[in-house]
Amino acid sequence: MTIAGSGPTDPVEPVPTVDDHGARVQRMFSSIAHGYDRANRWMSLGTDRAWRRRAVAGLLPEDAPPAPHVLDLCAGTLDSTLEIARQHPNASIVAGDFSAKMLEHGRRKLDAAEARRVKTVPMDAHAIPLADGWADAVFCAFGVRNLSDLPRAMAEVRRVLRPGGLLTVLEFFRPESWIARSVHGLYNRTVLPLVGWAATGRLDPYLYLPRSIGAFARVDDYLDLLRDTGLEPAERTPLTMEIAWIVRARKPEVEP
Ligand SMILES: C[S@@+](CC[C@H](N)C(=O)[O-])C[C@H]1O[C@@H](n2cnc3c(N)ncnc32)[C@H](O)[C@@H]1O
Repeated sequence: MTIAGSGPTDPVEPVPTVDDHGARVQRMFSSIAHGYDRANRWMSLGTDRAWRRRAVAGLLPEDAPPAPHVLDLCAGTLDSTLEIARQHPNASIVAGDFSAKMLEHGRRKLDAAEARRVKTVPMDAHAIPLADGWADAVFCAFGVRNLSDLPRAMAEVRRVLRPGGLLTVLEFFRPESWIARSVHGLYNRTVLPLVGWAATGRLDPYLYLPRSIGAFARVDDYLDLLRDTGLEPAERTPLTMEIAWIVRARKPEVEP
């Protein structure tokens, strides 16, 4: 596999975005990359680590080869990538994100052995620079909510998965019940922006976060979208009072 643009000498933002929304999201994450991990730990009191562990545990399909290929899409500062490397020590991992700054901060967390197995690749999720069928598994934590064109990006995920390959998404979907909507809404509009601002010195990204959750799909709508894309939903698991969800979907062995 040869991919241009990997390595510590990348220019600051080498990835073109598909539209203005993408460009804004890219700038926003690059502007908080320095404090992103700290904000996550403070905002979730470490719960995000437990969610990641659980989502990563089931990411490989049952018939995965001994040295599986895994794409961590929207990998950010590589928290999930590191968990994938820890739990699946024979996996070759590509960590892709369109914010080179987020990837750069993540790369600093890799030790020498991890750096040999993890390739960080600046990429837009709507145009993944991997061959058809390259991935046994695609993982995406807290990424899909930000995408400009979700059907197009999910079609890309389907293309890079091999038949029988598995997509795992860990995400904040729009809460279903009014209780969940009220509790999450209150926390997201008060505590979250304050903590995010304290951790990164930036307020706007942490006002965007609750807005993006409120405007995003409900989990069942997302499952419908995956079906329309030609992926078969395989799991839908709520985490911590439905604050977050794990969704898994399989690419069929045989094309319909
Ligand atoms: C909330 S962060 C999640 C990072 C990481 N997966 C985690 O769990 O900590 C979302 C990430 O998605 C990336 N992202 C958003 N839209 C993207 C796109 N169209 N293509 C590639 N990466 C994107 C952002 O740059 C950011 O790093």
